[in-house]
Amino acid sequence: MYATDAPPPRAPLTVPGLRRMKQEGRPIVALTCYDAAFAAVLEEAGIDLVLVGDSLGMVVQGHASTLPVSVDHVVYHCANVARGLRSALLVADMPFGSDATPLMALEAALRLLKEGQAAMVKLEGAGVKLETIRFLVEREIPVCAHLGLTPQSVLRLGGYRVQGREAAAAERLRQDARAVEAAGASALVLECVPSALAAEISAAAGIPTIGIGAGAGCDGQVLVLHDLLGIGGRHRPRFVKDFLAEGGSVRGALGAYAEAVRSRRFPGPEHAYA
Ligand code: KIV
Repeated sequence: MYATDAPPPRAPLTVPGLRRMKQEGRPIVALTCYDAAFAAVLEEAGIDLVLVGDSLGMVVQGHASTLPVSVDHVVYHCANVARGLRSALLVADMPFGSDATPLMALEAALRLLKEGQAAMVKLEGAGVKLETIRFLVEREIPVCAHLGLTPQSVLRLGGYRVQGREAAAAERLRQDARAVEAAGASALVLECVPSALAAEISAAAGIPTIGIGAGAGCDGQVLVLHDLLGIGGRHRPRFVKDFLAEGGSVRGALGAYAEAVRSRRFPGPEHAYA
């Protein structure tokens, strides 16, 4: 264990525990992480859910998108993060292509759980992915879905834009959210979605929603660690807040983020899309 051998300061968060947080109206504080040292600080700050995102392709590896990330990469970073955590729920991204078929997804997800020590995998999209979500869940692999802006769709989309603004796109998003829940997903990340739509989807869903650029009406919030520390790159999306400027230190920044999400001070209207 990286951090300490002392007993965990809080009960470990489980997949059913996430749903209880939604039912009890307790905001879920989520953050990405890629190594053990930061994981230990996230743990100290009381982050509930730690995501080893394929954003590592951009913020750790320096690529222009998440597409080059491999299963080996996520397994490696996930295993490192696991050594720094004690109580937070560890979620690993299924990298681009690893979930192209249910069998490929099963193979990748088993590695993320066994070698990476993740408790849940996250995969982007609905449609053809619904069969994969069902396939994994039926094999005891908890799945977090990801809708709205799905960065692995960057080639088709031609960039990173807010999704669900037009009536037809909004309706498709509502249907996809219902479909991933029906397929067995335990949580749903909503990325770059107008706040009113994300709030409506969150209120209708039985599973917790975790927003990034989706406004304050989600059941939880997630940010990319590097963005929160103000080192996420030259382009700073509207939904990002530099908590290092407010917190004064890495520990202070993570504590300020956790407190701001729990007290629903973050995200504010200035971080949301209409
Ligand atoms: O890859 C990632 O870090 C993510 C979050 C932005 C939700 O998917």
